[in-house]
Amino acid sequence: MSPAQIALTQDEVNHSTTVLSQSLANAYSLYMLTLNIHWNLESSEFISLHKFLEEQYNDLKDQVDDLAERIRSLGQNPPSGLKKMYEQSELSHNEAISDFTEALLVLSEQFKTQISSMRQGIKQLQEETDFGTVDLLTAILQKNEKSLWMITSHFKK
Ligand SMILES: [Fe+2]
Repeated sequence: MSPAQIALTQDEVNHSTTVLSQSLANAYSLYMLTLNIHWNLESSEFISLHKFLEEQYNDLKDQVDDLAERIRSLGQNPPSGLKKMYEQSELSHNEAISDFTEALLVLSEQFKTQISSMRQGIKQLQEETDFGTVDLLTAILQKNEKSLWMITSHFKK
């Protein structure tokens, strides 16, 4: 699809797909980290956390798919392959984490980075008219804010 078909300029599309690709690479890193913790966690609360993290990684998998398909809807291609995803990601990849407190701290820090990155991206796009992309990014931002709230609530005594 050409940008003109949806009344956007090439510059607007390029700007949108840059922001979408960044969010996608970060979401992919979050997805892999959440799986890592889901698999490796050892805790007296293992069963409930294992299930909670399964909901989280399924949600992140859907985010990855939605972001990639939005890039395709704008006529461009998402970053493909693990190498490109990790090169573009702003989130550091971690080794296996089994400790409950460390796992949730690392996960919450990674969500904070993604939230901050997405907020900056949305802010930049608000000068333009790609409302479809802004709407998708805003919906994902809200989900990530909710996830961060749920994760940090585990720390409260
Ligand atoms: Fe699982």
